Amino acid sequence: MKGFAKRTAEVSEYYFSRKLKEVKILIEAGNPVINMGIGSPDLPPHPDVIKELQGATGQSGSHGYQGYQGIPELRHAMGSFYSMHYGVQKDPQSEILPLMGSKEGIMHISMTFLEEGDEVLIPDPGYPTYSSVTKLLGAKAITYPLSAATNWYPDFDELEKLDLSKVKLMWCNYPHMPSGARADLRVFENLVRFAKRHQIVLIHDNPYSFVLENEPKSIFQVSGAEEVALELNSLSKSANMAGWRIGMVLGRKDWIQEVTKVKSNMDSGMFLGLQKGAIEALKLGSDWYQSLNQIYNNRRQLVWELVSLLNLDFDKESAGMFVWAKLPKGTNSLEFVDDLLENKHLFIAPGEIFGEQGKGYVRFSLCLPEEKILEAINRIKSIKPTY
Ligand SMILES: Cc1ncc(COP(=O)(O)O)c(C=O)c1O
Repeated sequence: MKGFAKRTAEVSEYYFSRKLKEVKILIEAGNPVINMGIGSPDLPPHPDVIKELQGATGQSGSHGYQGYQGIPELRHAMGSFYSMHYGVQKDPQSEILPLMGSKEGIMHISMTFLEEGDEVLIPDPGYPTYSSVTKLLGAKAITYPLSAATNWYPDFDELEKLDLSKVKLMWCNYPHMPSGARADLRVFENLVRFAKRHQIVLIHDNPYSFVLENEPKSIFQVSGAEEVALELNSLSKSANMAGWRIGMVLGRKDWIQEVTKVKSNMDSGMFLGLQKGAIEALKLGSDWYQSLNQIYNNRRQLVWELVSLLNLDFDKESAGMFVWAKLPKGTNSLEFVDDLLENKHLFIAPGEIFGEQGKGYVRFSLCLPEEKILEAINRIKSIKPTY
């Protein structure tokens, strides 16, 4: 064996992949761990979605390879979804590509645009996959810091000071994970203007637009975005289908065509039942999102109570499926998380896995029933923290 590719040294195993093994060992040893770490919805998809999936299993032709761009009905359903919820029109034939999850789309898009040595603007804190994929491809991740001082929006004056000559892509994501900063059309306008001025491909990653948000937003609501932006979207969070791996990328015809070329060499079409279920999920109306948000809202009230008991600060104006909380000055987030796991069997995510700017923060997921959050509250109440 002549060794692994050098690129494997550029990344480490995904934090949750490592940490959840540790959590599993604790659980198997009989420890009642409450997992508030990861944003995997615990609630089921709509029953009609399941029915469609089940129906497809008995249909002839459903078990063979499917087309690389998804069935036309799926692309149409994605188009109608964008039109119904965001007021954005995209051509299902040429401007929408179904994906096996938006995480995979980050790789497809990066492979389509990046050469070794190219530079990529990446939000800090932000979803770790943007930088790991960039590094895997031999490109350079240039993080742009976000902070509470600017409501976790980019500081364009600072961005303009950078040497942008080698920057080819810029990732952005609102509602922002992990802070929960809401999408704002003025910020989108500034992002689009910036991308246009510097000839950068702007990719807006939009999986949280419905979660604790009444007015879902898309980058394409801003004029000029169609020239410079791609948008990723996903059924993982909004339709409780994280394990189904259904996502989409939308944007200019020539860019979607090129991404399709790359993707078609890497994977094949999704199982028909998944596509049929996804079509049903894409038809869900505002009543679905409202009832989900009622549940998340109740959970969030309890998480706020928990976070207050831990003496942490948080912002009530956020969206998305997490509570992002600030630790007391000087507290190390990794140590805080390990301490909570060890002493209270409560698992949350340390902010620094999302970047330097996440140091000093922790993230609580809302993907667990109220009883579990109450149990966590009682644990914290009954045993005084040692940190
Ligand atoms: C910001 C962000 N983008 C993308 C994803 C990936 O979502 P998907 O399940 O569609 O791959 C996540 C998942 O947690 C996320 O938080």
